[in-house]
Amino acid sequence: MNPILPVIAVHGGAGTITRAALNAEQEARYHEALDYVLKGGQAILEKGGSALDAVTEAVFRLEECPLFNAGKGAVFTHAGTHELDASIMDGRSLAAGAVACVKSLRNPILAARRVMEDGRHVLLVGEGAEAFARNAGLKTVPPDYYFTEARHAQWQRALSEGRFGMLEGLAAEPIDADTKMGTVGAVALDADGNLAAATSTGGVTDKRVGRVGDSPLIGAGCYANNRTVAVSCTGSGEMFIRMLAAYDVSALMEYRGLTLAEACEEVVMHKLPSIDGRGGLIAVDAQGNVCLPFNTEGMYRGHAQAGGPRQTAIYR
Ligand code: GLY
Repeated sequence: MNPILPVIAVHGGAGTITRAALNAEQEARYHEALDYVLKGGQAILEKGGSALDAVTEAVFRLEECPLFNAGKGAVFTHAGTHELDASIMDGRSLAAGAVACVKSLRNPILAARRVMEDGRHVLLVGEGAEAFARNAGLKTVPPDYYFTEARHAQWQRALSEGRFGMLEGLAAEPIDADTKMGTVGAVALDADGNLAAATSTGGVTDKRVGRVGDSPLIGAGCYANNRTVAVSCTGSGEMFIRMLAAYDVSALMEYRGLTLAEACEEVVMHKLPSIDGRGGLIAVDAQGNVCLPFNTEGMYRGHAQAGGPRQTAIYR
């Protein structure tokens, strides 16, 4: 049997990302950021580290980068606040952890990981999640930590256009018509054949306070199972919840025997669009095949095998 070649894939959100929307300098910044994120996960896999550690590190780096809608750089709610969601899943044991509606954690993905390791629950929300993370020694931040000019301007535009929660527009529009937002995530396969997935987000601009999307919901925005696939989603969360998008990729592979590419095509290009679901996902299967489909104009994405070149892309 051939040895397993570890691999990692990451995304920084999908949406209306056209060549006209980004200048060369902005484009270069995104490529550089995605490369840095991939490099962190790849280095762990190259040292024989676990898929779980690789996706945690990659999403941690994405949360730290203000370019992406997670951690620093998260979008604004209708009340001008920030509420963050994250989840992680271990394909080896089907263990999972998630937090939702947290307002003071610097890195929600680390809190999700602690919830998983604690093992008692899968999903903690709001103040309970924050207290749990504080007790675990994770970093907290004041509300203005998440602020960025770009997200503030985007929220102001949404307010002035009356696009409350951006929900009216979701059927016709991508996640963010003007500034191409989404979620961040990572999936990986390690040398022991274990899969893992992690997802983190600030949600959608101008969302209602208390709104939770697909990202912290296991099976909707994040799923990993060594028998099939690891998946992290980005897009119009309500539709990804209704379609159980991440689990559906796994189920199509397990029950209908579809290949990774066929299952991803079915979910992203047929099933999600049938309910106006816009976005994409990243997926790696137990053989190390990678698939990065999206039904929007673009998706910030990248992938790399251990010891191989890192590839990043934005447009179709
Ligand atoms: N897909 C992220 C969200 O809808 O919150």
